[in-house]
Amino acid sequence: MFWLSLVLVLVNFNYIQSYVRYQPEQIHLSLGDNGRDVVVTWSTPDVVGESIVEYGIGEITLRAIGNPGGVFTDDGIEKRRQEIHRVKISNLEPNTIYKYRCGSRKGWSSVYWFKTLPAGDSWIPNIAIYGDLGNIEAISLPQLQKEAQNGMYHAIFHIGDFAYDMEVDNGRYGDEFMRQIEPIAGYVPYMTCPGNHESAYNFSHYRTRFTMPGGNQGLYYSLNMGPVHFIFFSSEVYYDSQYPGPQRQYNWIVDDLKEATKPENRAKRPWIIALAHQPMYCTSFNQDDCTVSRTKTRVGMGNPPKYGLEPLFYENGVDMQIWAHEHTYERFYPIYDYKVLNGSIDEPYVNPKAPVHIITGSAGCEEGHDFFTPKSPEWSAYRSRDYGYSRLKVYNNTHLYMEQVSTTADKVIDEFWIIKNSHGPYNSL
Ligand SMILES: [Fe+2]
Repeated sequence: MFWLSLVLVLVNFNYIQSYVRYQPEQIHLSLGDNGRDVVVTWSTPDVVGESIVEYGIGEITLRAIGNPGGVFTDDGIEKRRQEIHRVKISNLEPNTIYKYRCGSRKGWSSVYWFKTLPAGDSWIPNIAIYGDLGNIEAISLPQLQKEAQNGMYHAIFHIGDFAYDMEVDNGRYGDEFMRQIEPIAGYVPYMTCPGNHESAYNFSHYRTRFTMPGGNQGLYYSLNMGPVHFIFFSSEVYYDSQYPGPQRQYNWIVDDLKEATKPENRAKRPWIIALAHQPMYCTSFNQDDCTVSRTKTRVGMGNPPKYGLEPLFYENGVDMQIWAHEHTYERFYPIYDYKVLNGSIDEPYVNPKAPVHIITGSAGCEEGHDFFTPKSPEWSAYRSRDYGYSRLKVYNNTHLYMEQVSTTADKVIDEFWIIKNSHGPYNSL
């Protein structure tokens, strides 16, 4: 009887184990190491061991094969398994619509599409930018979903704080978030950097679920789009004790700027825009680092402080710094070390004498809005607590346009141009 029971248990166990879930989900795109590569990333609840993207112009005739990711579990209690798949599609035609599906011989996704970036440096990047978008209270999501599918953007930049948080419920929050952004990120490259809400298990959900260029697990990298050189980095190396400190990233930024500011590169791509999660300046009514004058990302850490980025960005003529973390939108006058350095009294953003900072962390999440200090200092130009996101359009080497969409008010509530006759170190202007 014992042996019969054991056999029945084993048969039953095998029967249960034979259920498999191989259908692709959480499909999203990112830009590869150059403008002609796109990476498709997706998840399967069970380990498939095969990662394929089939794609083509008009008809699906081509195939790219990636390396299966193997088992992904975080260090949570339940040890839920899934497989994250990545396939790079290379040598794509510029400015061309491709159809694709992803999966394996065990299950395929629906057919999606994307449009590749135009060739060269003289096109007009159009990008939606925001941070702090959660599963709950994701107020900006519907409008972004429609605009992305209508082909309005070349890319979406999400600068930290996803899902709130991806590790919650043993990663089910992360799965839900990736499903919610699929109507955006399945069609338009979704470029990211980490925020404080990604810190669990040494940022493992962030590092594994997204595929950013540069070979540094999406923590810091740069990319070129039209006349702009974008630098994405992690503010968390200054704040999270899981990191040994900011020196490695700092050295990488120094090298990246050295290359980007070579005269031949700056002539082609004069705009340099740096993006990370926790801002150098803010006027929020809270205890965050940006509410005090010696923000770590700005002046550095230790005694004497090292690795401060504000002097580095100033000396290299970085044009803009875009942040999130504060659940607000805030535009600042050109600023360096708390000094306003406008182009002129009437035209602060015409030939500004310091970088222009923006905070756009109001996409919508369950933590709601942040509050501002009652009095706005002279270096803060515009503030809004509405939910929303930013749109950036860089027309040419001299003209950059940015606007803030309030999804609360259903309209554009702020817009401005930065106009520059030349780009370079501010201390030599
Ligand atoms: Fe944050």
